[in-house]
Amino acid sequence: MNASAELALHEVSKEYLSANGTVQALRDVSLSIVRGEFVAIIGASGCGKTTLLRLLAGLIAPTRGEVKVREHSLWHSGKRDTGAAEMIGMVFQDANLFPWYTVEENIYLPLMLQGATRQQCLEKARELCHLVGLAGFERSHTAELSGGMRQRVAIARALCLKPSILLMDEPFGSLDAMTRERMNLELQTMIATINATVVLVTHSITEAVFLADRVVALSPRPGEIRAIQPIEFPRERKLEVQADPRFNLAVQALRQALCVEGEK
Ligand SMILES: Nc1ncnc2c1ncn2[C@@H]1O[C@H](COP(=O)(O)OP(=O)(O)OP(=O)(O)O)[C@@H](O)[C@H]1O
Ligand SMILES: [Mg+2]
Repeated sequence: MNASAELALHEVSKEYLSANGTVQALRDVSLSIVRGEFVAIIGASGCGKTTLLRLLAGLIAPTRGEVKVREHSLWHSGKRDTGAAEMIGMVFQDANLFPWYTVEENIYLPLMLQGATRQQCLEKARELCHLVGLAGFERSHTAELSGGMRQRVAIARALCLKPSILLMDEPFGSLDAMTRERMNLELQTMIATINATVVLVTHSITEAVFLADRVVALSPRPGEIRAIQPIEFPRERKLEVQADPRFNLAVQALRQALCVEGEK
């Protein structure tokens, strides 16, 4: 399985140097993700989930260990492999949109930065608006959108350069329960359409179990892998799957893995 890994972390540790000294965010994390797999990462606030995603995206370098995308190391003597970055789209913890730009401008920005023509940009934005359920809102300003719509824009922008790997950091964290449920259903359809490998960070154990093929539970900081729970239900899933006893068993197992005695 390792041989065909799309993404891999080998004994990765990350330490940050801050004014208050060294912060160890992750310790000895090894994980291999195959093409097309959907992996969810859960863990307490501050346990290193965003750090893990930023390492996979090549936005930061590991202090120790190796990060690989399709068997290629992301870092060579402190320099990042730029080719790998093109395969990756990232949705950040806050939607990170430009409020003075329209929906379509926010979406096609990465393409424009690559030098595409205005026509190409507009066509791409139209296609992506359709995919994420924003058709008709291309010219709206993002300040006029609901939270769920803003997250759709962020997802569309992450998909603009046709990444084969999508990294999502708490994309639905700020949404109400019903919108979140709908976004979860729609996300599955979007992922199936583009056939991407996905790593999703979430605070919600049920969201993780609902969406993922495997759920990785991290310990409190420094984040170490405490459990990896396979979720056997075939994708795309319907909400009814949550009533299946196996769904609840998986949720319970992960809850236990996160709440080891002596911790909150
Ligand atoms: N640039 C940085 N400099 C110093 N410390 C940092 C930096 N980024 C993160 N940290 C620290 O590393 C630890 C892990 O942070 P990270 O953002 O990865 O956690 P998280 O699991 O994503 O938390 P949350 O669930 O609240 O988003 C925290 O203690 C944080 O304070
Ligand atoms: Mg975070």
